[in-house]
Amino acid sequence: MQQVKAVIARAKGAPVELVTINVPDPGPGEAVVQVQACGVCHTDLHYREGGINDEFPFLLGHEAAGIVEAVGPDVTDVAPGDFVVLNWRAVCGDCRACNRGEPQYCFATFNATQKMTLEDGTELSPALGIGAFAEKTLVASGQCTKVDPSARPAAVGLLGCGVMAGIGAAINTGGATRGRSVAVIGCGGVGVAAVAGAALSGASPIIAVDIDAKKLETAKRLGATHTVDSSKVDPVEAIKEIAAQTYPGAEGADIVIEAVGRPETWKQAFYARDLAGTVVLVGVPTPDMSVPELPLIDVFGRGGSLKSSWYGDCLPSRDFPMLVDLYQQGRLDLDAFVTEEITIDGVEAAFERMHHGDVLRSVVVL
Ligand SMILES: NC(=O)c1ccc[n+]([C@@H]2O[C@H](COP(=O)([O-])OP(=O)(O)OC[C@H]3O[C@@H](n4cnc5c(N)ncnc54)[C@H](O)[C@@H]3O)[C@@H](O)[C@H]2O)c1
Ligand SMILES: [Zn+2]
Ligand SMILES: [Zn+2]
Repeated sequence: MQQVKAVIARAKGAPVELVTINVPDPGPGEAVVQVQACGVCHTDLHYREGGINDEFPFLLGHEAAGIVEAVGPDVTDVAPGDFVVLNWRAVCGDCRACNRGEPQYCFATFNATQKMTLEDGTELSPALGIGAFAEKTLVASGQCTKVDPSARPAAVGLLGCGVMAGIGAAINTGGATRGRSVAVIGCGGVGVAAVAGAALSGASPIIAVDIDAKKLETAKRLGATHTVDSSKVDPVEAIKEIAAQTYPGAEGADIVIEAVGRPETWKQAFYARDLAGTVVLVGVPTPDMSVPELPLIDVFGRGGSLKSSWYGDCLPSRDFPMLVDLYQQGRLDLDAFVTEEITIDGVEAAFERMHHGDVLRSVVVL
């Protein structure tokens, strides 16, 4: 066991605290990782506000990269010294999804078995089974994905959650590729990553929609060919018009990605999609939301598919090393997502800044 500094949320809505925690030595199937960088994601704030569950205290942070320090006795997939990006999809290999050859939908993913605790022994709930606003964290070894060790930790750590969710929503879930048009509604960290994913895939046009002009500028930087300020114009009409400029007769974009998580923007996505096109919901709704007045004949008559995307339907072992290589080659600008590097005592202030809209990601660097 060792003691390290870490950021916890002790109670619903209370400011986060920097405290000392106990990290057990790794047991079977586990690894201790020395965290080098961890992004501040909206989901950490959701945990803090009690929006995920009420298993306080939470050990926050989950978009991280670091060096494996020690592994449990039976661990062979990673070794001390390996540079890894942490993932929240360590697949089991034996559930119904894994057995039918679709491990990206695994229903029984792994986390560490032992618990990290406060100094008084209170067990911590690590955010998404990771908990990486900490000098060191204990995870399942399958949560460690080895990538090119020369990559910048603050940038590639972001693949651990939001950036992968966005890129994967476009490529894995939406099937973006050359010859297809893509529209993304909501261009925060996830939406802009979907734009970057669409750009990687060769899709065109790539239409970015947001109510915040600053977000649209960033989307352009990451590959949007067109931008639509939906606080000023009807996004459905705008998307249809732009799609039809490239593909005459198109009645919308082939793939429309909703990255806000609200009924009204999902409905925009539904009606801005071409016949037989695909809607991808990557934004996370709250349990009280529903879509009012959606005529079933429109669902039937327009054909195509209505999908949702969890973690970009990614398979970390397949997708992380590939995306890190594209980053290293200059084909995926992960640095553009890192608005600022902060210290571990800056998480609460970073939550504040999230609301101002000029930060894509604050990244804690240790
Ligand atoms: N499915 C997954 O696996 C997964 C993973 C991570 C995050 N998410 C979810 O993705 C969503 C986006 O996350 P984020 O980190 O990018 O959040 P964010 O707050 O950074 O971005 C949201 C964006 O939506 C824009 N927006 C708000 N209302 C809008 C409207 N009516 N029309 C157009 N744009 C609007 C905002 O201006 C902002 O740019 C959240 O719901 C988050 O929980 C999903
Ligand atoms: Zn499985
Ligand atoms: Zn996240």
